[in-house]
Amino acid sequence: MQSQILLFAAALFLPLTEALLRFPCSQLVTQRFDPLVTPGIVSPHVHQIVGGNAFNLSMDPKIDIAKTSTCTSCRFKEDKSNYWTAVLYFKHANGSYIRVPQIANGGTGNSKGGMTVYYIQPPKDVRVVSFAKGFRMIVGDPMLRSDRTINPRSPQAYALTFRCYNGVPGSDGAYAPGVGPFESIGLPKKACPGGIRSNTFFPTCWDGKNLDTPDHHSHMRFLDVPVPSFGIFYLNGTCPSTHPVRVPGLFLETVWDTKPFINIWPKDGSQPLVYSMGDPTGFGHHADYVFGWEDDSLDRAMANCNDRGDFPADCKELTVQTDAQINSCTQPVLVNEVTEGVYLPALPGCNPIQNGPNPATAIASCNAVSTTIARPAATAV
Ligand SMILES: *[C@@H]1O[C@H](CO)[C@@H](O)[C@H](O)[C@H]1NC(C)=O
Ligand SMILES: *[C@@H]1O[C@H](CO)[C@@H](O)[C@H](O)[C@H]1NC(C)=O
Ligand SMILES: *[C@@H]1O[C@H](CO)[C@@H](O)[C@H](O)[C@H]1NC(C)=O
Repeated sequence: MQSQILLFAAALFLPLTEALLRFPCSQLVTQRFDPLVTPGIVSPHVHQIVGGNAFNLSMDPKIDIAKTSTCTSCRFKEDKSNYWTAVLYFKHANGSYIRVPQIANGGTGNSKGGMTVYYIQPPKDVRVVSFAKGFRMIVGDPMLRSDRTINPRSPQAYALTFRCYNGVPGSDGAYAPGVGPFESIGLPKKACPGGIRSNTFFPTCWDGKNLDTPDHHSHMRFLDVPVPSFGIFYLNGTCPSTHPVRVPGLFLETVWDTKPFINIWPKDGSQPLVYSMGDPTGFGHHADYVFGWEDDSLDRAMANCNDRGDFPADCKELTVQTDAQINSCTQPVLVNEVTEGVYLPALPGCNPIQNGPNPATAIASCNAVSTTIARPAATAV
């Protein structure tokens, strides 16, 4: 996978962008927390969370996580932001579920699980305004189970996709995320011998006023790219007048290691992967972001850095952490339930499989754990 990504990065991304940061964030914790959607209570479904260790169940916007985090699982020490997505499970023919492991992305080092984060600067002479302290947003809708409301020519159709790796390094190298024969909006309908990468673009046009909105979406819009045949990576569209402020392009990649399941993949053509919210379609793909960069560090990086995709030390504005450092920044699981590592009789939380095409409905209660346990006292490292 490494060579595929490097090839693409070298051949296409870099001459076109003014600045680019591409870096790994290891797993901080995996549990049923979602402080944007369900602050203060255990969330309906499991998320994988990366970034600063001030992450907690409530994430009060008044708290400056850049200051209260004492470490971050991301490559740049200044990035105390949090990023999270749902996780994938493999459903065994016997009805049990096991979490699909996540592995380091090509070219990013030996991070543990987690994801790859990009901050992209638009083409020359387009100015971006960095996210402000307290900024948050969500992209995608966990209840979606169909693509029938997604216009295939709209930026949305390129924003939340899956790449099916065929196991032949380099074979997908010419295609930008969201584009080409290896991509799909829903989960791939076949086994992918090299694994699956989910691609998650956040919108890049801000209303310039609200750090957040009750739905966590409305303060943001996608660029209007008339014919996005090259995808939306290049950020070369225009912002609508209601959301005129351009912010850096935030893009996440998560690599799901489906290789351990290839031998037990269903022979009948059915699709055995399911997102933690009971979504076997993949149309419920979503992600959350809480901005938490220290002082003006992201601004400075956007103005002055191009790490050529995989050379974070090229960015002199920022402090690079080692793999050992990013892998050691973790949090204890505070929901007393098993979510990974073994086969489970059901998805954690109340998440029966809902196939769609109608949107899923929330299941109010079941026997799922709904309380947290006390955070263990901090121990010296
Ligand atoms: C989250 O962290 C803040 C600041 O450290 C703290 O005041 C708050 O009580 C925490 N909330 C929870 C639910 O842990
Ligand atoms: C299903 O198969 C897995 C893998 O062999 C096993 O660990 C699990 O216990 C099985 N579940 C049931 C209900 O038999
Ligand atoms: C967007 O940028 C890419 C790369 O420079 C270019 O090939 C493409 O034509 C542009 N698309 C639009 C709609 O401007």
